[in-house]
Amino acid sequence: MTTHATLTLGPDQAGLRRAAEILGAGGLVSFPTETVYGLGADARDDRAVAGIYAAKGRPSFNPLIVHLADAKTAHRFVVFNDHAERLAGAFWPGALTLVLPMREGAGISKLVTAGQETLAVRVPDHPVAQGLLAAFDGPIAAPSANPSGRVSPTTATHVLAGLAGRIDAVVDGGPCGVGVESTILSCLGAPALLRAGGIPVEAIEACLGQPLLRPDDPAIPVAPGQLHSHYAPQGRVRLNATSAQEGEVLLGFGPVAADLNLSPSGDLIEAAATLFGHLHKLDAMGAAAIAVSPIPNHGLGLAINDRLQRAAAPR
Ligand code: TXA
Ligand code: MG
Repeated sequence: MTTHATLTLGPDQAGLRRAAEILGAGGLVSFPTETVYGLGADARDDRAVAGIYAAKGRPSFNPLIVHLADAKTAHRFVVFNDHAERLAGAFWPGALTLVLPMREGAGISKLVTAGQETLAVRVPDHPVAQGLLAAFDGPIAAPSANPSGRVSPTTATHVLAGLAGRIDAVVDGGPCGVGVESTILSCLGAPALLRAGGIPVEAIEACLGQPLLRPDDPAIPVAPGQLHSHYAPQGRVRLNATSAQEGEVLLGFGPVAADLNLSPSGDLIEAAATLFGHLHKLDAMGAAAIAVSPIPNHGLGLAINDRLQRAAAPR
């Protein structure tokens, strides 16, 4: 963990070169992806990866996603089956993370996998993330760039609000387009949903031509990082609220009179993109009690409701 000031770098070639140098020297760099800002370190470097856990205050049993430039590079680290090939072909680069058997000799730090023999890999669809992967030319381990248990960052300002002085740099590439983290699938056996996210489950099932096993299925292990209280703003959260009660701030969805609205027109894609920014705003407002409008549970609504349920969970 660093205690010096955190550099803000531009998303140009000079900024990306500097960011890659810092990664190469074992430092920590936050960078934008299409989903949320990640907190990156060289995935092969135990000390650097340990720095991620320290900066975030993250429980060490929670493994990290490794970001790679393309599917071809991913094949060097993990073993694909037919399902995984098909999914990577359809959705990479993009907001899909695949958990696959790690190759022997992959060279990935055990702190990345939390000692498991599986590895979560993803090819991000963001020019700055891709530029950094090209400049660094190696695997970048990156969880979301927030202190553990807090709301994920979708701007460089959010990153600095949580981690300034604890990381070496942030590359400011503007706000993230998708706004919720990637969808995580286990492809170890029958494809299973570990975390709803930026690629809707319906699109994945259409691609595979079969339903996914769901997180509540007792046959599949839960992603170890799915701690119950997560994504939490400072205030208490009440879900499926049709209106605010005394003392509550209403986080709306659709045409309701709300203090903040995820999408006045009821667009789930817009709501995903604004979700974490609004939760950060509620913290900045000092909201002590937050009521949230009902969100339909299809498309990106599944990921939004998953994050909101964690925000509302007892702490
Ligand atoms: O969109 C995203 O996925 C963002 C950006 C930065 O790429 N990253 C992200 O990382 O959300 P993080 O660390 O906040 O969430 C990673 C999740 C955790 O719940 C973790 O338990 C799960 O991925 N995970 C990582 N490796 C795994 C593995 N080998 N098996 C099962 N779950 C795994
Ligand atoms: Mg996270």
